[in-house]
Amino acid sequence: MAERVYIFDTTLRDGEQAPGYSMNLEEKVRLAKQLEALQVDVMEAGFAIASPGDFAAIEAVAATVKNCTVASLSRSLKKDIDASWGAVKKAVSPRIHTFIATSPIHMKYKLKMDEAAVLEQAKTMVAYARNLCPEIEFSAEDASRSEWEFLYRVFEAVIDAGASVINVPDTVGYTTPDEYGALIRGIKENVPNIDKAIISVHCHNDLGLGVANTLAAARAGATQLECTMNGIGERAGNAALEELAMILDTRKDVYGLETNIKTTEIHRTSRLISTITGVSVQPNKAIVGANAFAHESGIHQHGILANSETYEIMTPESIGLQENKMVLGKHSGHHAFIDRVESLGFSSENKEEMTELFAQFKILADKKKSVSDRDIEALIENRSSDIKEIFKLENFVINSGNNMTATACMTLTKDDEVLQDVATGDGPVDASFKAVERITGITFTLEEYHIHAVTGGKDALGEVSVRIRADGKVYNGRGVSTDVVGASIKACLYAVNRLASEANHA
Ligand code: KIV
Ligand code: ZN
Repeated sequence: MAERVYIFDTTLRDGEQAPGYSMNLEEKVRLAKQLEALQVDVMEAGFAIASPGDFAAIEAVAATVKNCTVASLSRSLKKDIDASWGAVKKAVSPRIHTFIATSPIHMKYKLKMDEAAVLEQAKTMVAYARNLCPEIEFSAEDASRSEWEFLYRVFEAVIDAGASVINVPDTVGYTTPDEYGALIRGIKENVPNIDKAIISVHCHNDLGLGVANTLAAARAGATQLECTMNGIGERAGNAALEELAMILDTRKDVYGLETNIKTTEIHRTSRLISTITGVSVQPNKAIVGANAFAHESGIHQHGILANSETYEIMTPESIGLQENKMVLGKHSGHHAFIDRVESLGFSSENKEEMTELFAQFKILADKKKSVSDRDIEALIENRSSDIKEIFKLENFVINSGNNMTATACMTLTKDDEVLQDVATGDGPVDASFKAVERITGITFTLEEYHIHAVTGGKDALGEVSVRIRADGKVYNGRGVSTDVVGASIKACLYAVNRLASEANHA
């Protein structure tokens, strides 16, 4: 029988920490629900002391999620631990995750503490946290560059103080599979009370070894694997959850390990992160890239048609990629649309939202001959219900050409007020973004702009994601439309509305 390993997802913490991946409270809760549907065992919802926004989001996730443990990160400091406990205490299964660096370089230059002081602080803070919370995870930051003998002593002390999970992070993505596997074996053999704790691993991907190192550790006896969806995270990111889950599923013969991940939720979770953050996955990314299951060459296509196993080691369906044979079009009714929304795994409970989505579907179906599942997913994922639409787009007219200055005339509404202005710019997108700035009175710089077609064909939906910066903060936005300027304006307004609602709360 395969042995069970636990998946600790840190997309909402280590993932969100990476530049460009920040999410607001509603988006974090939406993603947390999807991570619950994916059946992760633990989700790290944030770093409670980092900001009031982080605290509130962890608290909201803790109140929402019922079927997995919710953790909050804390340095080994009382104020951090108090904040974490405050944020997770209402969770069905709360966990405080506390860390301190143990490598010579971190202790000397960052902490300015010696080994004895680090050991004492780790022990005292774990004991302090354990008095508050039934489950404590302790991380020895930069463990892979720490002295092994010192690590053993730290782990022994924190287990005695009440930690039931000890984490061995490869914080800077420096280790190699053989070395890391040996470290895990060393911990098993040299920490006398290790039978009282779960060994966890947390691998960064700086040398592209995040997943390989995690698997080497799992073979050596680590039973909690920390990872993020799409591999997002600090610098080159963390070990990718979808890769670990599918490797362990596809190569049970090699690893003999199993997770509780519902792999058919992988595609949806991956898409949701891209939609929320506006950051697309590279097309050739294993498991979740757009090309991961695409077979272009004639030889491959022939093989696949004869027997899919010739070139396919796992099925697209196993990660939740399915294409319904019956396409929807302009004659499809409300029932057929709702059926499809449900068969794609989305909830149709919110009637108002479904009415709005159906109206959007009808507009799209009028423009396109057939509406694919990918189109419907894009409409659902790009709905703006996660933000308050302070400024609403009423209409726009664009004038542009090769020998003229582009002009955008735009009407927005704010509550009952109708706001209108005209702006010129370097092309239609620039002109319309300037019109948004003039009307809303919010100035920003555009840091990133991406556009891609949701499906093939000239009538494809265009999906635009933008990243804007104002007052030193970054806001993402996205929008879809068959009209690329329309999609760009929607994306821009999405980001501006995020900014405006944050300013309203301030
Ligand atoms: O990479 C790391 O060391 C971390 C710890 C705080 C767990 O993210
Ligand atoms: Zn990390």
